[in-house]
Amino acid sequence: MNVLHVIANPRPTETSVSKKMAFEFFAALMEKNPDILVNNVDLYQNKPPFVSSDAINYFWRPVIDSAYIPSKAEENAANFSNNNAQAVVDADVVVLTMPVWINSMPAILKAWLDQVMVPGKLFNMGPEGPVPTHHIQTVVLLVSSDQVYKEDDERDGLTPAIRAIFHYIGVEDIQIAWADGQDASRHFDSAERRDMAIEAAREIAEDIAELA
Ligand SMILES: Cc1cc2nc3c(=O)[nH]c(=O)nc-3n(C[C@H](O)[C@H](O)[C@H](O)COP(=O)(O)O)c2cc1C
Repeated sequence: MNVLHVIANPRPTETSVSKKMAFEFFAALMEKNPDILVNNVDLYQNKPPFVSSDAINYFWRPVIDSAYIPSKAEENAANFSNNNAQAVVDADVVVLTMPVWINSMPAILKAWLDQVMVPGKLFNMGPEGPVPTHHIQTVVLLVSSDQVYKEDDERDGLTPAIRAIFHYIGVEDIQIAWADGQDASRHFDSAERRDMAIEAAREIAEDIAELA
């Protein structure tokens, strides 16, 4: 089994709750099944660019014009996508580690998703819409936030977006471990909330290890 771990958090593990959750998740995964292959991708070490007009042509013109030949500039604009999408195509499970920022995902994660979720890589465009060409079974979200709310709350703009994005390529199984209330100055039980989320992350990892 191939697990792609995408890290969308600029903070070091010592000060990051979501990265601590990731540490525990992968410890539990490897304890259960040391044969699982993990590919760590830190977006702050390899920053995705925002999609440009040239990149849009490169990604989407072939869908409507089979004779399209990209210009050199269009090819260059697709470099990040061409160099990074294969890691997603190879994945059975994708783990996304991130904080909540402004009720949603950090922009760097959306920029990465925009680069890799393109036709010819994770899907081909058929008459009825996208036809998946990947084999991702599950997406795991390891999330940390200051306020006390999680998925299914109307303030949550993160998990609906992730669900919609992965639904587009046919992935419906989204597992979530979310440490909310992490502002210890306002929430007396932040450590307990963190530990519960770490436990949830470890349980998800154990279930995934059994699928392999
Ligand atoms: C730019 C920015 C925006 C944030 N927006 C929110 C928010 O909308 N809701 C929330 O609960 N916390 C918000 N936070 C707080 C973080 O989600 C919180 O501190 C989280 O625990 C950070 O994760 P980490 O410890 O893994 O780095 C924000 C923090 C930053 C820096």
